[in-house]
Amino acid sequence: MNFAVIGSGGREHAICYKLKQSSKLEKLICIPGNAGTQKIAENIKEDISNFDALYQIIKRQNIDIVIVGPEQPLVDGLADYLNKKKIRVFGPDKFAAQLEGSKAFMKNLCKKNNIPTANFGVFNNFDEASSFIEKNGVPIVVKADGLAAGKGVSVCVSKEEALKNTKEILEGKFKSSNQVVLEEFLKGEELSYFVIVDENSSLFFGSAQDHKRVGEGDTGPNTGGMGAYSPAPLLTNQLENKIKKKIIDPTLKAMKDLGYPYKGFLYAGLMIKKGEPYLIEYNIRMGDPECQVLMMRLKTDLLEILDCATKNKLNNLKIEWNNKSCITIVLCAKGYPSNYIKDSEIKNLFNVLTDENNQIFHAGTYEKNNKTYSSGGRVLNITSSSKNLIEARNKSLANISKINWVDGFFRRDIGWRVINNK
Ligand code: AMP
Ligand code: GLY
Repeated sequence: MNFAVIGSGGREHAICYKLKQSSKLEKLICIPGNAGTQKIAENIKEDISNFDALYQIIKRQNIDIVIVGPEQPLVDGLADYLNKKKIRVFGPDKFAAQLEGSKAFMKNLCKKNNIPTANFGVFNNFDEASSFIEKNGVPIVVKADGLAAGKGVSVCVSKEEALKNTKEILEGKFKSSNQVVLEEFLKGEELSYFVIVDENSSLFFGSAQDHKRVGEGDTGPNTGGMGAYSPAPLLTNQLENKIKKKIIDPTLKAMKDLGYPYKGFLYAGLMIKKGEPYLIEYNIRMGDPECQVLMMRLKTDLLEILDCATKNKLNNLKIEWNNKSCITIVLCAKGYPSNYIKDSEIKNLFNVLTDENNQIFHAGTYEKNNKTYSSGGRVLNITSSSKNLIEARNKSLANISKINWVDGFFRRDIGWRVINNK
């Protein structure tokens, strides 16, 4: 079968890596890809917001299934567009993509279906928003309604900060929407929980925990993710039953009842408070860098899974995972998440020996004259698995030390909550 992966991050490299292991794979293209995907797939440069151009490539390359990595094209309706042209796409349609594309949509769906989530209000008007802040006090969480590339959420500890951020959102700081969602602050432990969904069923697709803050000890500004590990020890069978019964199943039923059954990966960002799960956010795609650790642990053929999912036959499958602990540490360009260094050469990558327990997934890289250069803020994902998390982390840190990149930095403490508790 012929597959096209859309995107250029570590998540897409990890998906390509896993697909490449399938004996049924004939052709793999990645649009636009990076220096890592180039080694295992054919990279085709194209602007992924240009749906017509994507369709021309997909037709010309005789692609059987398209996997859309990032959220933006899904929120903009890429799945609807390709489905209309009779192309099999893995990922939700535009309506269902609102679960991530509009926080107001997601919160209202929770309210209507009694899905546990933080108390909230949605506002278009500053006076109403400020009386909500006045009434609820701080800390309070201020969120832009629409997509904001990970920059739309702030946990505010003072009223002044909450009012300032609210005003900025209402005045259109984020182009996707100028509604604001104000939320009660939930204190607990975060957990990323994944399912894969077709029109008939949903299957567990792994658990992970990521570290969003740039600094060690989870300090400093938010990022797209500085590292992740899987499985998440927080997830017990009892908790998993609650997540499925109270959050996932009612969401999927609600989407079906609205006439837009959800299809694709669904990533629930949860807060676990006194053993009870609360939904913080939905993502309508795989996590990045969570995908990298999940792909290393997945035993079942990913091609088979995606083939079944796009035929609504997931219920024929049993998805299996290895029992190892896997970690990924993100190597970033200095300056990230603010202005960061670009086009900096990364040397000695070939010093890292890769095998089933050690991989480097590229995120923001490109190749020129046989040299590798950085192009993004999050640049490489140094990923290792082992029988326990501390060994996995040590392997990953040892691999990083073999790379020579003067303009890079990373966190040495990914997984610290679990490792320190041992
Ligand atoms: P989101 O983009 O919605 O995942 O939010 C980014 C981060 O903000 C989350 O990973 C949490 O750490 C934090 N956060 C969001 N909403 C809440 C909430 N209601 N209570 C506490 N923390 C939150
Ligand atoms: N790692 C967080 C995300 O993919 O949204």
